[in-house]
Amino acid sequence: MKAISIEAPGGLDRLRLVDHPEPGQPGPSEIRVRLHASSLNFHDYLVVSGKSPAADGRIPMADGAGVVDAVGEGVTEFTPGDPVVSCFFPLWQDGPPAVGDFSHVPGDGIDGYAREAVVCPANWFTRAPQNYSHAEAATLTTAGLTAWRALVVDGGLKAGDTVLVLGSGGVSVFALQIAKAMGARVIATSSSDEKLQRLGELGADHGINYKAEPEWGKQVRALTDGRGVDHVIEVGGPGTLPQSIEAVRIGGHISMIGVLTGRGGEVPTSLLMARQARLQGLIVGSRREQQDFVRGIDAMGLKPVIDRRFALEDIAEAFRHQEQGAHFGKICLEF
Ligand SMILES: NC(=O)c1ccc[n+]([C@@H]2O[C@H](COP(=O)([O-])OP(=O)(O)OC[C@H]3O[C@@H](n4cnc5c(N)ncnc54)[C@H](OP(=O)(O)O)[C@@H]3O)[C@@H](O)[C@H]2O)c1
Repeated sequence: MKAISIEAPGGLDRLRLVDHPEPGQPGPSEIRVRLHASSLNFHDYLVVSGKSPAADGRIPMADGAGVVDAVGEGVTEFTPGDPVVSCFFPLWQDGPPAVGDFSHVPGDGIDGYAREAVVCPANWFTRAPQNYSHAEAATLTTAGLTAWRALVVDGGLKAGDTVLVLGSGGVSVFALQIAKAMGARVIATSSSDEKLQRLGELGADHGINYKAEPEWGKQVRALTDGRGVDHVIEVGGPGTLPQSIEAVRIGGHISMIGVLTGRGGEVPTSLLMARQARLQGLIVGSRREQQDFVRGIDAMGLKPVIDRRFALEDIAEAFRHQEQGAHFGKICLEF
C-alpha cells in the first residue's frame, strides 16, 4: 500500500511516497480501516516541516477517515462498510483531560494516517457523520473537535452568546459554523477583506480586518455595546491574546488554542484579572467528545468548508499551499 513517510530531520522536500506492506487481519478488539482522506492542520505542518521533529520514517497526519473493511473478535461497535474517522488522542477515551503531550498522537508520537490502510484498536476511531464524504469526515479529528470542545464542552455555549473567532483557518471557520448553528452571534477577524466577506456569507454578524485595525479588541467591545464577547477562539497566541483579553466580557471565556504568532510572550495579567475571565488551555478532546460532536453534526446538518483537495502523493504541495496562508477553511488529502 502507498504511504508517506518523513525522512529525518524533516522538511517538505523530505516527504517520501513509500510502499508499505498491507496490514493483515485485525486481532481481538481491532478493526482494519481502508483510509480515503486526511486533512491538514498547523500541528501536522510543524511535524512534517521539522519544526517539531518526529522519528525518522514517521507516517504523518493526525486526521484519517475511511471505511471499516474487517473487524476482529469481540468488536460490536462497527461492522464492515461503516464510515469512520480517527481520534486525535487514541488513549484519551472519556472524562477530564488525561494527556498533556503528543507522544501517542497519530502523525507525531506514533504513525499517522497518510497511508491507505491501518489495523488498530476499534476505539481509536468513531463513526463518521451521516452523508459526509471521507474528506469532510477527516476535518473533524483535530480542527472540528477543537472548536466543538472550546465552545460547547469548555464554554457551555448557549443561544444568544457572542463568539469571537480569529482568522479564517480550519478551527476558526468550524467555530463560526458551530456557533451560528447553535444560535450564537459571531464576530470574525481576518487579514483579508475578501475572506471577511466569505465569513459573512457563512453567517458572521460582523467582520474586522485585524491588519487595518490593530486595536481590534476595542472594536469588538464597541460592536457589543461595550459588554465584550462571551467566548474567544484564541488561535493566535502571544500576538493576539492582549486584544482577546480586551475583547472578552467580564466573566467571559477565552479558549487558548493556537500558537500562530509564537509560543510565549507578555500577557496583560491585570486586565485579565479585572475581566475576571477564564483563560482555558486545551488540546483537541476525548473520544467521547468526538462521539457527541458527530451526533451534534447529524442534528445541525453542518458541513465543513474545504478549501482545496490534493492527492496523497502531492502532500508537500498541499502543505506549501497551507504555508502561504491563502486558504479558507480546511485543506484535505484524498486517496
Ligand atoms: N490546541 C488545540 O487543540 C489545537 C487544535 C487545532 C489547531 N490548533 C492551533 O490553532 C492554530 C490555528 O490552527 P488551524 O489549523 O485553524 O490553522 P490554519 O487553518 O492554518 O489557519 C491559519 C489562519 O489563521 C489566521 N491567522 C494567522 N495569523 C493570525 C493572527 N495574527 N491573527 C488572527 N488570525 C491569524 C489566518 O487567517 P486570515 O488569513 O483570515 O487572516 C490564517 O489563514 C494553530 O496555531 C494550531 O496549532 C490548536
